[in-house]
This record gives sequence, structure tokens and C-alpha cells, in this order.
Amino acid sequence: MEAFIRSLPKAELHVHIEGTLEPEMAFELARKHRISLPHANVEQLRRAYRFSDLQSFLDIYYAMADVLRDEEDFYALTRAYLRRVHAQGVVHAEIFFDPQTHSARGIPFGTVVGGIHRALVDAQRELKLTHRLIPCFERHLSSDSAMRTLEQALPYLDAVAAVGLDSSERGHPPGKFAAVFERARAEGLLAVAHAGEEGPAAYIREALDRLHVCRIDHGVRCEEDPELVARLARERIPLTMCPLSNVQLKVFDRIESHNIKRLLDAGLCVTVNSDDPAYFGGYLLENYLAIQRAFALSRQDLARLARNSLEASFLDAAGKRRWSSAIDRLLADPPAQQPR
Ligand code: ADE
Ligand code: ZN
Repeated sequence: MEAFIRSLPKAELHVHIEGTLEPEMAFELARKHRISLPHANVEQLRRAYRFSDLQSFLDIYYAMADVLRDEEDFYALTRAYLRRVHAQGVVHAEIFFDPQTHSARGIPFGTVVGGIHRALVDAQRELKLTHRLIPCFERHLSSDSAMRTLEQALPYLDAVAAVGLDSSERGHPPGKFAAVFERARAEGLLAVAHAGEEGPAAYIREALDRLHVCRIDHGVRCEEDPELVARLARERIPLTMCPLSNVQLKVFDRIESHNIKRLLDAGLCVTVNSDDPAYFGGYLLENYLAIQRAFALSRQDLARLARNSLEASFLDAAGKRRWSSAIDRLLADPPAQQPR
């Protein structure tokens, strides 16, 4: 099945570029900028990646982002991610970043976008891997700070497709950012939001009805509200799910308890994603493999997940049709089984 999953054209729609910072690169950048990290070496740092919930992860994730300082760092980080997932069959990537984490340290929006965007453009040319870029507002910060961040993004609308909402979910309902999202949409940006990861199903409804998002990131807690599940299915509102992340952050106790297969079978547009792969033990391929094993997914199931990822993407209709036909051809003529 690994060869089949690898050859499926897949879109990744939920990856935080800061969450692709591997310990090796963190140490390299720390040396470059003469910063000391709180761990002696790569192995010790990796051992610290044991999380009890979302906040325990975010504390480390924001601290590690301190090694990202100049445009070249953001370029190197993004390039490494794109090369890695290209080898896993990712044909289109929609990438989040957290501008407030960097502006709080005096790093301008333009430096961050400049490095990430240059790597995206290079990958499109060299690897034919297409992209969209999505700055996220951190919901534990104020709506004024989010509005200032949106204003910083306005000179870069050529490089930015949408806005997102991430960080500590509990106690930070989406409605707090209604005015910011309204302004973003008036500027022609699309909108997505993390909701129903640790927060209640009501936050998913609020993201849909008050922020007018076209996708929900995570959304696993939708099942607490059966009418909401029916609406998500009826309106084909995509959920960008991240199975390994949810296990690492104790949203589910183990992969077999995840609701992705149940929601797929219920007709929702669920997709597989990696979230913060350097911290959660796997990139997109490893997330597909984990759920394939846990639920004995068939080729048809896997193809449906890949099709959903392309349908839910911000690719244009011609791009979506092209990849959908490629999936048809692959299903008709799957790669030979690899000898074990
Ligand atoms: N930022 C990075 N990863 C996140 C996650 N899983 N939830 C919320 N904010 C995040
Ligand atoms: Zn996320």
C-alpha cells in the first residue's frame, strides 16, 4: 500500500511551516545565529517532544521558532519541507505560517513571506509542486493585533491566498475575530480556521457562520453535534484532519480511536494532513500510512481521501480536474506490489 499511497497525487492543506522545523535544522540555525537552545543535542530535543495537550506543544513550538531569524532561514525551512513531501507524492501544498510569532521578535512580515514565497516559487518551477500561502492569526492574542497583522499582509496579496486562525483554542471562540475576517474577505482573501480540535463543536458552527470560512482545520469534535455533521456532509465543507497530531496532543488516545474513517463513510469531505510533522512523528505519507493500517483502508478509501484533498484545495477547476483524472488512471492501473 505504501507504493500506492506514494503515487497518489495528494494535496496537503494543513501544515504549519514552523512545525516542519526538524531538530537538526534548529541546531544548525541556533549555531548560525549564536543562540543557545534549552537542550544539549538533537536527541535530547527530540525526547522533549512529549505533549499532554495542545498548549504543552505550543509552548515548545513557539520557543523553537526563535531560531528562524532571516529570510534565508524561512527559505531553507520551506524548501526542505517541499522537497520532502514532493518525494511522498504531494502535488499541491497550502501552507500556514504564524506572522505574530515573528513580528513579536522584530521580524517583519515581508522577511517571513519573502523567504517562504521564494521557496514556493522555486518548487513550482523545479518540482511542479503548486502552492497557496495562508498567514494565521493567533487566537490567544487580541483582535486588534490580528487586524494589525492583516494590514501588514496587504502589500503581499499576490503571495497570500487566504487567512487562517490557530493557536490555543479553548476559551478563544472564533467570533472574537469576526471583524478581522470580514476585512480579509473584503480584500479578496479566502478564510479558514482551526475549530473543534480541543474546542467544542459550537466553535465549528461559529467559524462557519461568523467568519464565513470555506474549510475547517481539524473539526474532529463535530460529532458532538449530529446536526452539524449533517450540515458538513450536505454542504461538503472540508475538514482538514491531522491524525498523528491528534494522537500526540491527546485529542484521541490512539490512532484506532480517530473518527476520520467514520466521517469519511458518512460522506464528509475529510482530508489527511500533517499539521506539525517535525513534532508529531510524520509527514503526509506517514499520516496516510497510520490510518491505512489502523482502519485497513482500501485503495478506494485512500483515493477518496486524496480526491477530497484536491476538491478542498484552492486550486482552480482545471488543476482539480487534471489531478482527478490522474487518480482515475492510477486506480485503473495501480503500481505493482513491492516485494516485502
Ligand atoms: N499551531 C500549530 N499547530 C497547531 C495546532 N495543532 N492547533 C492550533 N494551533 C497550532
Ligand atoms: Zn494546525
